[in-house]
Amino acid sequence: MDKLKIIGGPGLKGKIQISGAKNAALPLMAASLLSNETITLKNVPHLVDITTMANLLMHMGLEISMNGTNQGIGHTLSLKSNDSIETKATYDLVRKMRASVLVMGPLLAKHKETYVSMPGGCAIGTRPIDLHLKGLEALGAKVTLEEGYAHLIAENGLVGGDYEFPVISVTGTENIMMAACLAKGTTRLFNVAKEPEIVDLANLLIKMGAKIEGAGTQTLTIHGVESLSGATHDIVPDRIEMGTYIMAAGITNGEIEITNGDLTLLPTVVDLLKKTGLEFIEKDKGFIVRRKDPKKPLKAISVSTNPYPDFPTDLQAQYMAMMVTAEGDCTITENIFENRFMHIAELLRMGANIHIDGSVATVKGVKELIGADVMATDLRASASLVLAGLAAKGETIVHRIYHLDRGYEHIETKLSECGALVERTH
Ligand code: UD1
Repeated sequence: MDKLKIIGGPGLKGKIQISGAKNAALPLMAASLLSNETITLKNVPHLVDITTMANLLMHMGLEISMNGTNQGIGHTLSLKSNDSIETKATYDLVRKMRASVLVMGPLLAKHKETYVSMPGGCAIGTRPIDLHLKGLEALGAKVTLEEGYAHLIAENGLVGGDYEFPVISVTGTENIMMAACLAKGTTRLFNVAKEPEIVDLANLLIKMGAKIEGAGTQTLTIHGVESLSGATHDIVPDRIEMGTYIMAAGITNGEIEITNGDLTLLPTVVDLLKKTGLEFIEKDKGFIVRRKDPKKPLKAISVSTNPYPDFPTDLQAQYMAMMVTAEGDCTITENIFENRFMHIAELLRMGANIHIDGSVATVKGVKELIGADVMATDLRASASLVLAGLAAKGETIVHRIYHLDRGYEHIETKLSECGALVERTH
C-alpha cells in the first residue's frame, strides 16, 4: 500500500493550480443519465472517486470517453447514456463510494425504476440515505427495501411535489433536484443545501434544458420538462482542495500563489483564516496566501462546522492540524458527522495537545510537532496528517494514502513543486 514520506520544515513557496471540484464532478457525471445526448465535462480531476463513478456508469451501459478516446488521458470527459441501460447500482460499486447513490434520482426519473444498494456505514459515521428516499417519495416514487437494496418505482413517471429537508443534505438535494427536472409539474424543495457544487449542478442542468430557480438559496423550484439535451460544462474549482493548500501555506509559514482558485467559494473560511493571522493578496487569476507577520505564530480561533456558507466539515481536520501549533487554545466543534475526529489520535502521536468531549475538541497550542508514523481512515483526515507532517520536526510517514488519492489530484507533485520534501513510497 502506498505511503507518503514527508520531511517537515520548509515553508512552502511556489504556485499551486487548483483542480476541478470532485464533489461537483460526481453529481455532474450522474446528471448525464438524464439525457441520451452527450454531456461534456471540462476540468475533471484525475481522482479515484471519479474513476469509481465512471466505472459505475460504464457498467450501466453509458459510453464514456476522456479527451475524445476510450483510453484518453486528459480532463475532458464525455458521457452518453441511452434508453436500454442497466438501472441497478450494485453493492460492490456503491460500497466503494457513497456518492454512487447520486445515480438514484436520475435513473428513477428517466427509466421509472432503479435498484440502488444502500451504502451502509462509513468511517465518518452512519450516513443514512433516508432523506434521499423520502424526497423521491414526495415525487411519487414507491420505495421498498429488499436485501440491502432500495427498490424505487414510478410506474407512470415522477410527479412534481413539495419536500422539506429536516436536515440539510448536499447529495440529498442533488438527487431530488436531478429527479425533479423530468417530473411532471412543479417541485418545491425547502431547506436545501446551498453549496457552490449545488449551483454548478443546477447550471449544467439548466444548460441541458431544465427549469430550475433558486440554486444557491434555501428553496429550489423546479418545473419539470419532457426531456433534456446534451451540454458542455466547465467544473467549478475545488474549494476544499484550495482550503487545504491555503492551510499548507499557513502551517509551514510559507507563501503560495493559488491559481484557478476563487476565494468567494470559501467566504467564512477566508474570514476566519484572516483572524488566525493569514493574509490574502488577490491576483489576476487567483491569489497569494501567507502569514501577515511571518515572525509570529498563528492565533488560535475557535470554529464550528455547519452547512455552507458556514465552515465546511471537509476542512475541519486540516484546520485542526493548523491550530495544533497556533498560539493559545481553541475549540473545534463538528456538527455534521458524529465520528469525524479520527485524525486526533494520530495528531496526539505527533505531540499535539487535544482533548475531546463529544463533538467538541479543545486544542491547546504546542510549540512544535514531531514526525511519526501515522495512518488515517478517511480522505480529509489524511490531508490533515499531511499538513501536520509538513510542519513537524523530522520524518512523518502517512500510511494508507489511497484515501488521499480519492480527493487530491497529484498531491505530492503539487506540494513538491512548492519545495515540500514529500515522496510516495510502496
Ligand atoms: C457531501 C459531500 C461530503 C461532505 C458533506 C457535508 C459529496 C459527494 N460529498 O456528503 O464531502 O462532507 O456533503 O458537507 O458532495 N443525512 C441523513 N440522511 C440522509 C442524508 C444525510 O441523516 O439521507 C445526514 C448525514 O448523516 C449528515 C448530514 O445529514 O449528518 C449531512 O450529510 P450530507 O450533506 O447528506 O452529506 P453527503 O451529501 O453525503
